[in-house]
Amino acid sequence: MSLQENAPTIAVVGVTGAVGQEFLSVLSDRDFPYSSIKMLASKRSAGRRLTFEEKEYVVEELTAESFNGVDIALFSAGGSISKEFGPIAVNRGTIVVDNSSAFRMDENVPLVIPEVNPEAMVKIKVGMGKGALIANPNCSTIICLMAATPLHRHAKVPSFSLYFVTHFLICLQFVNLCRPCLVR
Ligand SMILES: NC(=O)c1ccc[n+]([C@@H]2O[C@H](COP(=O)([O-])OP(=O)(O)OC[C@H]3O[C@@H](n4cnc5c(N)ncnc54)[C@H](OP(=O)(O)O)[C@@H]3O)[C@@H](O)[C@H]2O)c1
Repeated sequence: MSLQENAPTIAVVGVTGAVGQEFLSVLSDRDFPYSSIKMLASKRSAGRRLTFEEKEYVVEELTAESFNGVDIALFSAGGSISKEFGPIAVNRGTIVVDNSSAFRMDENVPLVIPEVNPEAMVKIKVGMGKGALIANPNCSTIICLMAATPLHRHAKVPSFSLYFVTHFLICLQFVNLCRPCLVR
């Protein structure tokens, strides 16, 4: 249980969705400290009850006011919701971690995989009262770079081509398919 006084306040936008539910699992698995957590989704889900870490929460409709007093908001309700509500949250002092493609190509928004380039968000700090946006790449890019980055650091590969990435993913998939036979 990571409910703690003086820890950041959190909101999960799109909490009723597949990714939103995964956010909750990861927060719990990692004992991520929080002092409160807001469960946000569309009007359709407002009033729905859900249990997180043995506590019951009521899902609230996402509005501009949802971010008052929120330190960190995890967004996974699609690109258009991120585009509309991300900047609103930032203006209210919230650090937004956006899982959609909305800000990936925005050069003012760090595109971060924590295990690959955490330095890109080094100036973003919880508790300073200053909002910020952090984007993350799509899932296949994250998986590929998690494996390719140590190789890149070791071998100083100047750039990865799309061919390399595709080839690398096919090889990974092949190894994965063969693993049960190899283990036997
Ligand atoms: N980075 C990645 O690798 C990656 C991977 C997968 C997905 N994603 C992103 O995550 C998003 C969600 O994917 P998912 O599979 O979790 O989808 P999903 O299961 O359909 O869930 C969508 C979530 O968004 C909420 N939502 C929809 N319209 C809304 C609105 N007007 N206001 C507030 N909340 C709203 C839904 O709430 P209701 O239940 O109330 O409708 C639900 O909680 C995708 O659109 C994509 O942008 C990113």
